[in-house]
Amino acid sequence: MTTFFITGANRGIGLELARQAVASGARVFATARQPAQATALQALAEGSGDRVRIIELDVANDGSIARAAAHVRDEPIDVLINNAGVIGQAKSAAGQGRTALDMEADEFLSVMRVNVLGPLLVTRALLRNLRAAHGGKVAVISSMMGSFAYTGAEHIAYSTSKTAVNRLFAALALELAGARIPVAILSPGWVRTDMGGPNATLTVEESAAGLLREIARTDMALSGAFRSYAGATLTW
Ligand SMILES: NC(=O)c1ccc[n+]([C@@H]2O[C@H](COP(=O)([O-])OP(=O)(O)OC[C@H]3O[C@@H](n4cnc5c(N)ncnc54)[C@H](OP(=O)(O)O)[C@@H]3O)[C@@H](O)[C@H]2O)c1
Repeated sequence: MTTFFITGANRGIGLELARQAVASGARVFATARQPAQATALQALAEGSGDRVRIIELDVANDGSIARAAAHVRDEPIDVLINNAGVIGQAKSAAGQGRTALDMEADEFLSVMRVNVLGPLLVTRALLRNLRAAHGGKVAVISSMMGSFAYTGAEHIAYSTSKTAVNRLFAALALELAGARIPVAILSPGWVRTDMGGPNATLTVEESAAGLLREIARTDMALSGAFRSYAGATLTW
């Protein structure tokens, strides 16, 4: 049975990834910052016959990462999906996400902590579980807003964080090649979630199905490439 570990699984894309993984027969370690409030995830766990274990995890907190890793001990993890992310709440006077000229330093650092360092530290904490799976894979959910082909200036902390996580996970792919652990760097498309908003073009079902398909076909040859949920290779 395939075992997934999915961060930010209480809502949005992460919850749907967990749902579809369970529907495919897999077992899921599903993380939430506040398990007691993760009602949709609790409902999924209740209907899954013990195949979903909810684990508390704040990816921006070292102690929380260590406790989550201790929780899974040395159980093999076949697929780690670093999905948790934040866009940042601060808005400019015009109501847009902040730009390079008006963003706040603290917000920039907190977005970088969650979106860049978080996935790396979670992956490092679970490396022995990925190794134990003999065929373990790592995925990070990035964004087209991290591509140099993206021309918008708003939400600069977020877009910079996704550029940085792309570079970080491309380098991680090189380091993990020796252990034959492939790394998938995936854009989920524009998805109707709290983050994506109501005008987004994709449902969570469409995006999550594509992401899981792309993760399944990630091998050492595709490791470290930046790809979309639909299988296209993307411009860095
Ligand atoms: N939606 C889109 O159009 C879109 C496009 C491109 C990329 N993405 C990426 O896709 C991923 C999922 O996005 P989404 O649309 O599903 O967003 P979402 O609906 O806002 O959900 C974000 C998830 O991340 C969790 N999270 C936030 N900060 C966290 C932290 N410090 N530690 C652990 N979990 C944390 C949230 O938990 P709480 O409930 O506790 O806040 C929530 O589960 C993100 O990486 C995002 O950047 C989304």
